[in-house]
Amino acid sequence: MRKEFHEENRLAWNEATVAHNSHKGDQATFFRNGGTTLFPEELDLLGDLKGRSLVHLQCNSGQDTLSLARLGANVTGVDISDTAINFARQLSHDTGIQATFQRMDVYDWLEQTARGEQRFDIAFCSYGAICWLSDLQAWARGVAAILKPGGRFVTIDFHPFINLFEWDLERKYSYFTNGEALTFEEGVGDYVALSEHGLINGDYVEGVKDFKNPYRGHFFPWGLGEIVTALLEGGLTLSSLKEYPYANGFKPFEDMHNSGRRWYLPADQPNMPLMFSISARK
Ligand SMILES: C[S@@+](CC[C@H](N)C(=O)[O-])C[C@H]1O[C@@H](n2cnc3c(N)ncnc32)[C@H](O)[C@@H]1O
Repeated sequence: MRKEFHEENRLAWNEATVAHNSHKGDQATFFRNGGTTLFPEELDLLGDLKGRSLVHLQCNSGQDTLSLARLGANVTGVDISDTAINFARQLSHDTGIQATFQRMDVYDWLEQTARGEQRFDIAFCSYGAICWLSDLQAWARGVAAILKPGGRFVTIDFHPFINLFEWDLERKYSYFTNGEALTFEEGVGDYVALSEHGLINGDYVEGVKDFKNPYRGHFFPWGLGEIVTALLEGGLTLSSLKEYPYANGFKPFEDMHNSGRRWYLPADQPNMPLMFSISARK
């Protein structure tokens, strides 16, 4: 496990989260007006949430967490970023949507929770979560440990295949990285601005301009086989594994068109997987 990288990522996420939220306008009013930030894919995967206990791992600023709470789940959101968790707590307070938020490294939270009594019906993480995990095996064992028997792990995330390509789709990076970190000096960027309205519900606000992250980012581009194998070895049974030829919210490449908040490659180009989802049971 690379805790020193997690810490630097925390600093990078603190900075990036301010820029990201600056484009999103008045989130409290959005939620008070009945808004949700969830996509149909995770809603289908998660199913009926009424009365379920759900932990949202790497929840960032809590918009998806509060949307899940709205559907009747008892939610806990966990994230390493101070800025994100402070924002999430304030949003919960301002909207009156009940949720518990904990600012912790996900590995510390899993370990601490496993030592206690609380167990969850569902552990969920999504859209840009797994690539920040420096030790997949420890994470998968930790997830299995905090689930009730029969409880489910659900994720939908960007496909590791997209990490091979630059913004202009030039193939530049390797798929297999043997768990080595990819360090990028420019840290977490303002991909919310680059994704235009994809990650915004409501009107795009100009907000922070020309964002430059002063901290580096350390990213772990795990392959799909490594992710699934870690979950199986962690003690979970795979229920479904799906791949999708489009990306929800985040625009990974320059030459894409959108339908609502979803991004597609040009129809005259060969398709490729842009997202995957997993549902697995303890
Ligand atoms: C792309 S965001 C996920 C967004 C999320 N799907 C949502 O609902 O908004 C990735 C998140 O992972 C968090 N993160 C990265 N490394 C972490 C770690 N070691 N422990 C906990 N959270 C971490 C970051 O702070 C960031 O908020």
